[in-house]
Amino acid sequence: MGSVTALAANTPPAPEASEIITNVLYYLGLSAAVGIGLTLAYLAIPEDRGGIVAARARRVVLPVAVVVAVTAIIQFAGAAASSAGLSWMHGLAPSVLSDFVHSGPGRGSSIGAGTLALIQMGGYVALVATLVGLYLRPGRLLGWLTVVAAVVTASIPFIPFGSSVTVNGAANDILTGVHVLGALLWVGGLVVLCALGVMGRSDRNSLSTDDSLQVTDDWSQIWSRFSLVALWAVGMIIVSGVWMSWTHVGSPVQLFTTAYGRYLGIKLLMVLGLLVAGAYNVRVLLPRIRAARANGDDSSALRLVAHHFPVVVAIESVLAVGVLVVVPFLRGSARQEAGWDDARSFDLAVFGTGVLLVALVAAALWFGSRTPKADASPADRPVSQRV
Ligand code: HEM
Repeated sequence: MGSVTALAANTPPAPEASEIITNVLYYLGLSAAVGIGLTLAYLAIPEDRGGIVAARARRVVLPVAVVVAVTAIIQFAGAAASSAGLSWMHGLAPSVLSDFVHSGPGRGSSIGAGTLALIQMGGYVALVATLVGLYLRPGRLLGWLTVVAAVVTASIPFIPFGSSVTVNGAANDILTGVHVLGALLWVGGLVVLCALGVMGRSDRNSLSTDDSLQVTDDWSQIWSRFSLVALWAVGMIIVSGVWMSWTHVGSPVQLFTTAYGRYLGIKLLMVLGLLVAGAYNVRVLLPRIRAARANGDDSSALRLVAHHFPVVVAIESVLAVGVLVVVPFLRGSARQEAGWDDARSFDLAVFGTGVLLVALVAAALWFGSRTPKADASPADRPVSQRV
């Protein structure tokens, strides 16, 4: 009974609905920017080479810029309100904003939370500018600049401005940054490609034969390239996520006995669902697409790339948003709730274990994602260039 009371006393209160929504919107806005930048920089066949999906993606750039701008304001106001201990709506009041911007440095830092938020706002402004540029002059370079601007903006909270840097603190900041970068790549790709897939379903009946072949080429390239990006993102997320889990959860039992552990468990179940769906894409759908293209079965190839694949990606997107909803519930730590000491500091033994983990995850992902290559030559030849 005593330990139950102790657990309850150490458990932080659940986040308010406004905090959950602000948090989800924050990550969704930055993810969407990464996803659209990546699509136009690397995933899709460019518009000037006939890419139909790239042209569709460009129509989404301005709405994404608006979403990013709105989420930037929401994030800023949310941070101002929470630093004053007020609810979100009060964050827009001029006096609250002014106090926030002029707030002094927190413990261990040489700049205040308001200054940090202003620096991040600068990142947001640059990001919106690259998005507008991408809309006006679509091209790979601006696509990459958009990705970089979004990643830099997301990384600003993890930069130790002027604080005394310890090995442990640096390891934490770097790995949390890696986790967030992996999340932006994976979630951003899923959400943006899901939106483009849905847009494509509505105009599938109006496609000419040539356009259908082009769309098949477009999506075939997108899915095979995105699978590679997702693989890297998953590797980054798992390695950093295991580190973060170890620092926050002292034993597997705490996954069940503490609120933090249970929320993390829910998140891990959703991630498992994402991994299963991703494995289905790589091991079942991609080989089927290759086989259909190799056999000249254009209608099956189109159905798989433009209809079947987007359905799986839509399910993955819902799960990914679910993961983001759970993130704000991860407050405090399971160790704290159970009255345990903090995890040991980052040292050579932890580093060695990390290196081993990276090797194991890399090997598992490499084996898990290897697809049997059918006769490569016809499969790799674009459908639209066949005679
Ligand atoms: C789709 C996959 C995932 C996404 C989108 C995701 C996203 C995130 C985000 C956005 C954060 C907040 C980072 C911050 O600002 O501090 C976070 C924290 C965290 N994640 Fe993940 N994550 C994913 C998978 C995982 C996995 C596989 C693990 C464990 C192996 C994990 C464990 C954690 C832990 C322990 C935290 C720390 C929360 C805290 O500070 O208390 N995540 N995740």
